[in-house]
Amino acid sequence: MENTQNKKRIFSGVQPSGNLTIGNYLGAIKNWTTLQDDYECLYCVVDQHAITVRQTPADLRRRTYEIMAIYIACGLDPEKNIMYVQSHVPAHTQLSWVLNCYTMFGELSRMTQFKDKSSKNADNINAGLFTYPTLMASDILLYQADLVPVGEDQRQHIELTRDIAARFNSVYGDTFKIPEPYITKGAKINSLAEPTKKMSKSDPNANAYVSLLDNKDEIIKKFRRAVTDSDAVVCRAEGKDGINNLMTIYSCFTGKTDEEIVKEFEGKGYGDFKLAVGQVCADSLAPIQEEFERLMKDKAYLEQIFKANSEKAAYLARKTLSKVYRKVGFVQI
Ligand code: TRP
Repeated sequence: MENTQNKKRIFSGVQPSGNLTIGNYLGAIKNWTTLQDDYECLYCVVDQHAITVRQTPADLRRRTYEIMAIYIACGLDPEKNIMYVQSHVPAHTQLSWVLNCYTMFGELSRMTQFKDKSSKNADNINAGLFTYPTLMASDILLYQADLVPVGEDQRQHIELTRDIAARFNSVYGDTFKIPEPYITKGAKINSLAEPTKKMSKSDPNANAYVSLLDNKDEIIKKFRRAVTDSDAVVCRAEGKDGINNLMTIYSCFTGKTDEEIVKEFEGKGYGDFKLAVGQVCADSLAPIQEEFERLMKDKAYLEQIFKANSEKAAYLARKTLSKVYRKVGFVQI
């Protein structure tokens, strides 16, 4: 896929660790389906990033297939978007070695995600965890991406990516496009258990998130347990983090405005509201889950997508990598 139409290029990565949640769906994936005609998009399952913390091999493998199946089931077209797996394109790690030599120890030491993950995995503070941001910079810079849709927690990594690119460019001349973070229009969905925190697919408390693959009973149960307040009025207000979050989720699935929601639940309790949110969530996910199940039974199809799209990605990646190799003085054969 040549960038002949001068479309801007978008790159994003997702780790195959934990189950994708309605936070990933409403905050990102759903919005990506509206980008596929106007941008040239690459969506990478970053399995090499995932092993910076211990993974069960069978789970890692299954989740890699699952993410691809979920993306397709959510409406991302594998012909229009380059959806592929990081370990299938060796140029990512090849570039990351080079970029490691242009990234400072001090810079990596300041990364808040590194500090956070090393305190949570004190028995496994490995070199991969430390150089994680350089691999991420390589993912992005390899494709000369213009925009990188990420959440707030990844902003520091994008800043570092920009610094590494600018440093390399200043030594060797224009090589990398300097990417911008792309803060999507998608909603920010918080944890159901601690509604001031972002909903996370790797939260140890399964009641804190709704997985895209949870069944109807689980979904209803999780919303019933969602943390709220003692106010008992459905409306958006400061300090009502739980209800605010549920209103956002309800609004995303129904298209209703806050005023419409307030009216609908006037005189009703939180129980009714939570049930309604659970129901609309489960009903909206049902067709996605059905398509997901169908795709997961067709591994050959998914593997064909992996293969075709990794070839498209590798073609683009090779151009940047050979430019970099030439500039740093590696002999070309
Ligand atoms: N670090 C990102 C996360 O944890 C995942 C990621 C890896 C990524 N490479 C990327 C995101 C490149 C955007 C672009 O969410």
